Amino acid sequence: MYVVALNGSARREKGVTTTLTSALLSGMQEEGAEVELLYLRQMEIEPCLGRFDCWYKSPGRCSVEDDMQRLYPRLRTADCWVIGAPVYMDGIPGPMKNVFDRLLPFVEPTVEVRDGRVRHPMGVGVKGGSLILASVCGHWEMETFDPLLAYMQAFCDSAHRAFAGALLRPHAAEFVQLLKNGGGDDILSAAHEAGRQFMRSGVLPADKLAAVSRPLLTREEYIDRANDRMAQLMSGERRMAA
Ligand SMILES: Cc1cc2nc3c(=O)[nH]c(=O)nc-3n(C[C@H](O)[C@H](O)[C@H](O)COP(=O)(O)O)c2cc1C
Repeated sequence: MYVVALNGSARREKGVTTTLTSALLSGMQEEGAEVELLYLRQMEIEPCLGRFDCWYKSPGRCSVEDDMQRLYPRLRTADCWVIGAPVYMDGIPGPMKNVFDRLLPFVEPTVEVRDGRVRHPMGVGVKGGSLILASVCGHWEMETFDPLLAYMQAFCDSAHRAFAGALLRPHAAEFVQLLKNGGGDDILSAAHEAGRQFMRSGVLPADKLAAVSRPLLTREEYIDRANDRMAQLMSGERRMAA
């Protein structure tokens, strides 16, 4: 299986997105996946210009000459896309959204009814496949991921991909603290195992996904700790500024 992984964390290797995505990908690789990982922070990908050149002027080809041109052949042929994206302001980070917007040439300009909805047919030379989301967020609740999950499902429905599910790690700062204190192995193992089982069965195992997302503290504890951490950071900043 050829897997293209896009990492949209602004903090690249230092990000929790990378910690989570790496565990998933290593599991997939262990079961034979050929993985290509690209960090969007290392690429120049402009927003879509909205000119529809990819439909009318040069069908199937985007006219913006930037690093997206390197991504197109990979995304066209990959069996699975792994999208590593933290929650930013209740959505995906801008550079990742630029990539999705620039995928308009992957569908035809004509329309048809599919699953009861008007949609575009799949573009010529585009291989359908699956998509896995690996996301992290700051806040405590799993509901924080709802907008991303809804977007990924809608994108997959429109772009002829099967949304295979998501690895979701809430209250990421607590997870980092846990890792620093030598814990969290169960979470990384669950992500790794999810990758292995996906390769074997094409399904992300529900028990492993639940293990990845397990609460690390109560909501009340989270609120206290988050505010304490913020107070410490702010007083440090003020001392530096004084
Ligand atoms: C610009 C910005 C917006 C964010 N918005 C949210 C948000 O809406 N909800 C949330 O729970 N966390 C939010 N966060 C927290 C990040 O999801 C969290 O810090 C995560 O660990 C970032 O991913 P990384 O560790 O890969 O950099 C935001 C962080 C940044 C920098």
